[in-house]
Amino acid sequence: MKLNIDKIYKFVPYQEVEKYKNTAKLSNIALSKKEGKGNDYMGWVNLPSSISESELSDIEATVNKLAHKIEIVVTIGIGGSYLGAKAVIDALSDNFAQLKSDRKSPLVLFAGQNISEDYLFELRQLLKNKEYALVVISKSGTTTEPALAFRFLKKDIEEKYGKDEAKNRIIAITDASKGALRTLATQEGYKTYVIPDDVGGRFSVLTPVGLIPIAFAGFNIRQLVAGAVNMEKETAHDVKFEDNKAEIYAATRNALYHSGKQIEILVNYNPKLHFIAEWWKQLYGESEGKENKGTFPASVDFSSDLHSMGQYIQEGIRNLYETVISVENVNNKQVIEKDADDLDGLNYLAGKRVDEVNKMAELGTQIAHIEGGVPNIKIEISEISEYSIGELLYFFEKACGISGAILGVNPFDQPGVEAYKNNMFALLGKKGYKI
Ligand code: PA5
Repeated sequence: MKLNIDKIYKFVPYQEVEKYKNTAKLSNIALSKKEGKGNDYMGWVNLPSSISESELSDIEATVNKLAHKIEIVVTIGIGGSYLGAKAVIDALSDNFAQLKSDRKSPLVLFAGQNISEDYLFELRQLLKNKEYALVVISKSGTTTEPALAFRFLKKDIEEKYGKDEAKNRIIAITDASKGALRTLATQEGYKTYVIPDDVGGRFSVLTPVGLIPIAFAGFNIRQLVAGAVNMEKETAHDVKFEDNKAEIYAATRNALYHSGKQIEILVNYNPKLHFIAEWWKQLYGESEGKENKGTFPASVDFSSDLHSMGQYIQEGIRNLYETVISVENVNNKQVIEKDADDLDGLNYLAGKRVDEVNKMAELGTQIAHIEGGVPNIKIEISEISEYSIGELLYFFEKACGISGAILGVNPFDQPGVEAYKNNMFALLGKKGYKI
């Protein structure tokens, strides 16, 4: 993975980034010692290198025991208990996996990530004629959205298979001892996995929260973890600032923020990466958006969104910058052929790969947006693979911990998320709540 910040210098010189060098380094050292704001939630820092062989084997064994007899796994969870798995599975999957009957692994669907009655109804209808299992995930074990979905899906699966077999088809991932899901899982005798106390939801993708659904989808969790382990080394506190991608990215974001660029748009040119951006938005938005501070994380899928958001990015308020995830090598080769009639006028592209056109769209957009006043950060990954995605996830996590600390907030809490819950509970008549 490569990080290039050259294309911000026209707006913010390197000296401005360097101003954050010391704070970035000190923040990284603090993370390594589990010191500083939110230090009881820093378990993710050395998580990749502490995942044991037996933990991975246990996950694989659980998945293999069930995978051969099911067509669908419904993963129930929201926020950090949903987006990491969704991001990795979408990145690694065939774009049309859902429609392909020659799939070797179960299809992973999601529930409890919204409260849509339509979504729930249509999912339940679909499951009636399918062989399936449930993975229910909630760190607190009390989140309304997944709890509500699980109440319906638990009843359905028990009615379909009987209580005993249903029990074999439900996996619960939650806190070691607290919360309603833990109580329920213990009482029902489900196979359970623990989310470590010191790993918050949005930093939990490399725990069973992400690894179990990703393994069900047929992807190599060992390679994913290996990528993250490599990035843990490359961004360690003893790697000097100039070589430390996480420190540089964190310092750059803060330099841009203080120069008035308070919106960061994560850009991709491959629709498989759409949910990586959704995961990233939660990671940065929930970690930094507090105390009336923080860069607003947004995202676009190019070139699709060049035809919708492109105008604003080119000429709207100049308070934004782009961070582009660029994929060097694409696996599936599609060469443009010469057409005898050339009625569409595309013969000038003959002999080129579609990806070359995409890359020129990327370069052309970068030049245009820089000219239009939008600084550009580039993150280049060699290809989309378990290893490269593992690297990317950990890079963003590490940089987020450092960036939040430079900003001066506690990146590991989310007090603001409670406000809507309080109102919703009061409106629904839950005891003890009022608006
Ligand atoms: O990052 C976080 O802690 C949150 O976004 C949670 O992941 C989200 O609210 C879901 O919480 P839980 O896993 O407790 O159901």
